[in-house]
Amino acid sequence: MIRPPMSESKRYDAMVERVSALYDRNRQRGVAAWCGHEYDFVCPSTGTYPFQWFWDSCFHAIVLARYDMTRARSEIRSLLRNQPDDGFVGHVTFWQREAFEEMLKEYSIAYRTPYLSDCIQPPLLAEALFAITRGEGGRSVLDELLPKVRKYYDWLDRMRDPDRDGLIAILQPDESGLDHIPKYDAYLGVTEPNRDEFTKAWQRAVGPYAEMQRDHDKMFAADRFVVEDVLVNVIYAENERVLAELHDEAGDSRAAAEMRARAAKSVGSLVKKCWNAKDGLFYDLAGKREDQLDVSTVTSLMPILLQDLPRSMVESLARQIADPKKYGAAWPVPSTALDEPLYMKPSSDRPDLTSKLLWRGPSWINTNWYIARGLRRHGFVDLARTIEDRSAALIERHGFREYYDPYTGEGFGAHAFSWTALVLNMLADHEGIDG
Ligand code: GLC
Repeated sequence: MIRPPMSESKRYDAMVERVSALYDRNRQRGVAAWCGHEYDFVCPSTGTYPFQWFWDSCFHAIVLARYDMTRARSEIRSLLRNQPDDGFVGHVTFWQREAFEEMLKEYSIAYRTPYLSDCIQPPLLAEALFAITRGEGGRSVLDELLPKVRKYYDWLDRMRDPDRDGLIAILQPDESGLDHIPKYDAYLGVTEPNRDEFTKAWQRAVGPYAEMQRDHDKMFAADRFVVEDVLVNVIYAENERVLAELHDEAGDSRAAAEMRARAAKSVGSLVKKCWNAKDGLFYDLAGKREDQLDVSTVTSLMPILLQDLPRSMVESLARQIADPKKYGAAWPVPSTALDEPLYMKPSSDRPDLTSKLLWRGPSWINTNWYIARGLRRHGFVDLARTIEDRSAALIERHGFREYYDPYTGEGFGAHAFSWTALVLNMLADHEGIDG
């Protein structure tokens, strides 16, 4: 194990030890016969998610970059190794597929090839590239990977923004990374939140894509599930901005200016179309009519990350994040507002992959990381520190679980879950440690 230099903070150092033990345990390494490439990545959880997931892997690289840059770089190289010429990167790479055929029967995933999925996930690849291009050797990694990363954002712009408003659309619920979040219920026609209802509703929405051979023009024209999702687009806009910085570092000011203009357009549309002044929150846009999906979830708070958000909107979001009746839980930040009728308590009666419903209430560490950083950017340091401290305490008491009960802190879902290690980056901010 690589031992990073000790910091001034015992709490941080203890967390580095725990994270590196977790990442050693979840490391997947080998050579894949189907493509002939080596792989080296951290899987989300060996029990339920042994493959390489797109947004998970970006988070893992951001964490690894704090203590093992070599592995952080391998993580992203593995993610991009099978990128097709058009620039797309699938949400799962099934590197060691043959070893898990039984488990795959439980997944319902659209495949581009037997080893690559045909869906997207929230696009934080530029943030991951930023993290792995710091420090020694960073410049050559930038030269190697920036063209591939840019190509990916060009694919999103070309294929997922047919109305050209700077907001990309997801074509099925799990492309948001927030599988069963209640904001989609009404649009999907889900009336009873249980696994069977969801399976039927997803099938209704996305089943016909197979006959369309997953042709994007046809999928958009069918208008069955087209959502300009706020969480996805906040991450998209932030990453367009980060990409501009990376182009600047690489000395390409023209490409940087292009990305800056694209970021400004995305932010402009979020503010203009997704803001709901009555509720003081941001909502996703559904279908060609761009109807706002007005259910209060953690998605609605995500624009706090954006540097250029108008101050009145920032203040409204910060108020709701702090409000104990809404998001200011004992163990923040719940994925659905506590006073939202569709809020659902996590339960250990539904622990298996086939029956659990995700993102309907519990607190998750990846969204906490984004929200705490957003709060810091806008000067709400005390509130950010509370979320950082509480997040760290969750892991210190209950280990790296997939998600936590906002009232009791009890952990649920997968054990030894990898992106929960983002708490290390939150502790670094909390303790004022650079890196
Ligand atoms: C669940 C989450 C998704 C994540 C995946 C692997 O499906 O909803 O966001 O990428 O698990 O951790």
